[in-house]
Amino acid sequence: MAQKYLITSALPYVNNILHIGHLVGCLLPSDVYARFCRAMGRDVLYIGGSDEHGTPSEVGALKENIPVEEYVDKYRAKHLDAVRDFKLSFDLYGRTHTKTHEKLIHELFERLDSQGMITEKASMQPYSVNEKKFLADRYVVGTCPRCGYDHAYGNECDKCSASLDPDELINPHSATDPTSPVEMRETKHLYFKLSAMQDKLRAWINSRKGWPKTATAIANKWLDEGLRDNPITRDLKWGIPVNKPGYEDKVFYVWFDAPWGYVSISQAATDDWASWWKNPDCHYTEFMAKDNISFHSIFFPAYELAMNDNWKTVDTLKGQNFLNFNGAKVSKSTGNGIFLDDALSIAPSDCWRYALIASAPETDDVDFTTTRFAEIVNKDLNGLLGNFVSRVCKLTEKNFGLNVPKTNGIDGELAKQINEKIAELTAALDACEFRKSIAALRGIYSIANEYMTAHEPWALIKNGDMDAAAAVLNECFQMIDLFARVSAPVMPDTAEKIQNIFGGKHDLSWPTKYEHRIENGETFVVPDNLFTRIDDATVADINERFTAK
Ligand code: MF3
Ligand code: ZN
Repeated sequence: MAQKYLITSALPYVNNILHIGHLVGCLLPSDVYARFCRAMGRDVLYIGGSDEHGTPSEVGALKENIPVEEYVDKYRAKHLDAVRDFKLSFDLYGRTHTKTHEKLIHELFERLDSQGMITEKASMQPYSVNEKKFLADRYVVGTCPRCGYDHAYGNECDKCSASLDPDELINPHSATDPTSPVEMRETKHLYFKLSAMQDKLRAWINSRKGWPKTATAIANKWLDEGLRDNPITRDLKWGIPVNKPGYEDKVFYVWFDAPWGYVSISQAATDDWASWWKNPDCHYTEFMAKDNISFHSIFFPAYELAMNDNWKTVDTLKGQNFLNFNGAKVSKSTGNGIFLDDALSIAPSDCWRYALIASAPETDDVDFTTTRFAEIVNKDLNGLLGNFVSRVCKLTEKNFGLNVPKTNGIDGELAKQINEKIAELTAALDACEFRKSIAALRGIYSIANEYMTAHEPWALIKNGDMDAAAAVLNECFQMIDLFARVSAPVMPDTAEKIQNIFGGKHDLSWPTKYEHRIENGETFVVPDNLFTRIDDATVADINERFTAK
């Protein structure tokens, strides 16, 4: 039976339009890895979706003055467009505001409670007198004690960036009813006994392999500082209701419910979900950006382990650093960066996929610039890949017609070189080392170009050496077929276009070595150019439109 691979991509909040940072942070690396695993014949469950709860949705809906449900649907629809446009091959791109998810969270909470892992603690919380309810810190508005700004929130001041406690605000009132004063009253919250998990988690972290340094460092920092019990309920309406008497007006904290979205979305995707989630032999890889690492390396696994119910915990955690654009943070409010509703008007999906994966912020933050983007598209894609394919097809058509010229067999020296690169590429993708994988892939394109330059089939033709020219061109077609297979995880559209040169006859399974699959005389078609150059005028135009001034 094929080995099981579970792959999840962090669930973005639905309070924004996705941008290239989301693509490079989790969506693309997870998709490339999922496609690679499938091509290897592994049994993959690849899950993503929308994180619909929490204050980001509530605050956003309040700003746009529409019901939260409507707000969440509106942004989710845009996220789904991006999933389609960028060819993200999720088995299911689900969501967390579902009955399946609520049922799961209720069962899990009962399980944790029955394991003695839940306690109740009283604390002082802001209470809206007129509205007769407790407020989350974000919903208290007042004057900042630091800078005097009169619209500071109970968690932070937008003006001076001070992080605040709600009882520090001067003249506090409710964000949803400005006429209502706010005072501190005692209320109860449920806490998860995270402190009890300290040793178990330490041992668990030590048994993980292949995590980026940043991820292990973040996890260890939490452990070194000593884990404290964490509150898992909030005074909000929007979220999963708490299934415990006395908690009717509260919901679970979004980071308590959201990671379990991976499970509930799996449940929605397949009846067979437990063969991944309850299977110790399954390999589980999580993809996320840096700011999500503590939740995935400490909190989520702590909940899972505390259940004592055989839940699959993450084996390989891939946390990416941040991607800036043209020297500044990607941000809608400053107008800096490429958002996914604009990206395809600049270049096709495969160009973004390749260029972003080639620039993945695996070890440090990366500044992705328009110039760099154009360089990658022009040199690697249009130059090494696109031009090679087009020259081989055109030269052959002109001199031999639309049948692949004959050969007597594979070029052993060439095969040896290519096989080394295939091995490098396979190892890099298997380890989710994306920049290395692009270097190896580019290496394969380069070898093909060098082969053609060294053998000069056009010169052979000119000298009337048609058999020799045929053999060289045949070898080139075999490499074009290889391009389709090795490029497919990163550039699925391009792989399909190449596949169609041979009428779609040859599969895109992952190659263990370079081989000849195209028969002597097999028909081919000359494709349209695979890529278009990005010229200087376009670079200037992108900079003008998408860079903060
Ligand atoms: N919604 C979070 C964010 O956008 C990520 C949630 S990941 C999950 O940062 F595991 F909790 F789902
Ligand atoms: Zn302030």
